[in-house]
Amino acid sequence: MKYGHFDDASREYIIARPDTPLPWINYLGCEAYFGLISNTAGGYSFYRDARLRRLTRYRYNNSPLDVGGRYLYLRDNKSGKYWSPSWMPTRTKLDEYECRHGQGYTIITSKFNGIKSSTRYFVPLGESLELWQVTLTNESGSDSDLSLFSAIEFCLWDANDDATNFQRNYSIGQVEIADEVIYHKTEYRERRDHFAYFACSEKLAGYDTQREAFLGNYRGWDQPRALETGESVNSEAHGWQPIGSHHVKIHLRAGEQKQVIFILGYHENPKDDKFDPPTSQIINKKTVKPIIEKYLQPANVDEAFNILRDYWTMLLGKFQATTPDADTNRMVNIWNAYQCMVTFNMSRSASYFESGIGRGMGFRDSNQDLLGFVHMIPERARERILDLSATQLKNGGAFHQYQPLTKRGNNDVGSGFNDDPAWLVIGVAAYIKESGDWSILDELVQYENEAGSETPLYEHLQRSIQYTLDRLGPNKLPLIGRADWNDCLNLNCFSDTPGQSFQTTTNRDGKVAESVFIAGLFVLACTEMAGMAGNRNDKAEVSKVQKAAAEMEKTVWASGWDGDWFRRAYDNFGHVLGSKENSEGRIFIEPQGICIMAGLGVDNGNAIKALDSVDEHLATPHGIVLQQPAFSQYYLHLGEISSYPPGYKENAGIFCHTNPWIMIAETIVGRGDRAFDYYRRINPSAREEISELHKCEPYVYAQMIAGKDAVTHGEAKNSWLTGTAAWNYAAITQYILGIRPGFEGLEIDPVIPANWEGFKVTRVFRGATYHITVTNPKHICKGAEKVTVNGKQVEGGLIRVEEGVREVNVEVVMG
Ligand code: BGC
Ligand code: NOJ
Repeated sequence: MKYGHFDDASREYIIARPDTPLPWINYLGCEAYFGLISNTAGGYSFYRDARLRRLTRYRYNNSPLDVGGRYLYLRDNKSGKYWSPSWMPTRTKLDEYECRHGQGYTIITSKFNGIKSSTRYFVPLGESLELWQVTLTNESGSDSDLSLFSAIEFCLWDANDDATNFQRNYSIGQVEIADEVIYHKTEYRERRDHFAYFACSEKLAGYDTQREAFLGNYRGWDQPRALETGESVNSEAHGWQPIGSHHVKIHLRAGEQKQVIFILGYHENPKDDKFDPPTSQIINKKTVKPIIEKYLQPANVDEAFNILRDYWTMLLGKFQATTPDADTNRMVNIWNAYQCMVTFNMSRSASYFESGIGRGMGFRDSNQDLLGFVHMIPERARERILDLSATQLKNGGAFHQYQPLTKRGNNDVGSGFNDDPAWLVIGVAAYIKESGDWSILDELVQYENEAGSETPLYEHLQRSIQYTLDRLGPNKLPLIGRADWNDCLNLNCFSDTPGQSFQTTTNRDGKVAESVFIAGLFVLACTEMAGMAGNRNDKAEVSKVQKAAAEMEKTVWASGWDGDWFRRAYDNFGHVLGSKENSEGRIFIEPQGICIMAGLGVDNGNAIKALDSVDEHLATPHGIVLQQPAFSQYYLHLGEISSYPPGYKENAGIFCHTNPWIMIAETIVGRGDRAFDYYRRINPSAREEISELHKCEPYVYAQMIAGKDAVTHGEAKNSWLTGTAAWNYAAITQYILGIRPGFEGLEIDPVIPANWEGFKVTRVFRGATYHITVTNPKHICKGAEKVTVNGKQVEGGLIRVEEGVREVNVEVVMG
């Protein structure tokens, strides 16, 4: 069953009913000011940091779902009837309803009692504010006297403190109302130099800023007192719960239309110029006023919206594909790329499943997120790489997370996740392959953000490689540390106390437990390192990493190969995991993907064997599960992975991040049909028809789909913020369609389903636009018989960059 449909021409998903299985959200903002918005206008806003600069409140984990948002209410003043044009929070049955989620904007349109309302929410580029552009049309056939109320609940900035520290917070809330604008200025009197403002384009009939004055005591957002009586009481918040609510009276003749604009914004003043007059406690509004005035003009709002649309046309235009599969086209051309931008911006901080008060940005996560983002705005990827590497430890290790506001490593989580450093090598390689900007390797970058510790980024990468070599275990495989990619495989933790961190409560010194996954990742990182060292003519480094990779490969065949698949790890007692010897956790997905991506087993047939084992033991119609058999109980020596009930999350859930590794591995062995089949199984658009089971948004990937051991097999969770976005983007664009940036130029090597006639791609790469046409007359999966570039036949699939050439036509005939 579907709850809406894709409109590919407008690049929107149109939700046709408000009661989706979960709030289906979208993101506003892509620079500094951000908001989450659901299909019923739920969600919240923040400036840069979802925890420390939260503008509005949201009720997580609530019943009803999705409370707290950008609410509007309409009231027919003749009958006293009122409703929410976004359905929530009154949940009045609407005569018409539609929500369009687009890139950075959401439009909610509905009709009730003959009054049509359409609200466009977005954040203009370059601004720290959001706009709600409301258009009301009277289609009732007679004149209407309406009241329009807005309502948001301010957060007292630190979202964590706001939700816990009531003894202080109930006394500090402050607002100011001036010229129809509601200013939220809690703590502005002391150390803050920022405030929020909520403005409206119309003359107000009244306002409220004290929550209980607006709602009435013991009443919810679904039945505000102000709506029942039709009157605001011009309340001024002193402590308690500051809100912003405007009341506008609107007389609409039959057929008449009216636009009302609301601005919710964030503004900073210079520390020494906060007040006007300076001796007062009144906010200095000199610099904010022009911004407010600008965006209360409909023409400026329309223009800002068009700029945002054009911006996305430009970003998405960097890779456009036409394949025989509509679900592929819309994910590649629109939604997957869009999700990659959101994931790059948010890391794992703020979604319907991430509260925004939790963790910082992951080191490995951010490096992988680059893979799907770097082609859109390489300059921002560059900046991210430099920020990340400045948190690297001198020994080559990495803080597992860093805080986006301070750009410092997070001490609570610390380091010792032994896969982390290798991802930096992979992230930097991806950046150079895309941009051709080798100068990044010479950038001087600190370690642990310590002045004076700078070395060229190149040396950071060398230390990353060395980090693994310095930490080999009894089998000469890399030691796992607190965890590798699988945060929940905690072989050194032995946590037996509720509430302890599975990752950081280490009571073993960790000299035994080893990871085959890191071995594969290391070989992959060495290949990238050899490419970068080669470009610098650093022969010593090239031979060092090539030798190290060859050694590691030997070690994998000696201790990491189980006969039919790659093993997963050795535990603290030296016992194997991910082997036929195990009764649970006999086969894991991660080492199959990463080892084959590193090239292991491609020549000796073991890659095919491993992939056939994946198909036999792990694949389900809903995607490939993480391991089998699921752990039926908690194992102290395995940690968090066995804490989850079977079929969920890392305990044999379909952890979607890993699925594209198998897709890529299948392309490496040339099996395009299988690669694409796996791609479709978790493609959210291809799962749209089973939305009542899948539950999450059909336009973005979720981190997890419940595995075959789960009662709710096929149900997705944790949508939006997941490495799944970047890796699926890489799998489909770079490996299945096979348009792959390389150090030397663009490589073209499609591995597609045999029944495809071919496909077309437009790819902007290092300043030139490549128009690529692939035909498949013999209906094969892999192999190019003939490649022509601007009419000239070339050998192989590498298209070298030619200075000054802006348009490149590429024809590939498979055969
Ligand atoms: C989650 C993992 C996550 C880890 C570390 C676990 O509870 O299942 O997905 O990586 O926590 O935050
Ligand atoms: C989510 C984390 O963000 C990521 O770093 C990790 O690799 C996966 N979970 C698997 O545990």
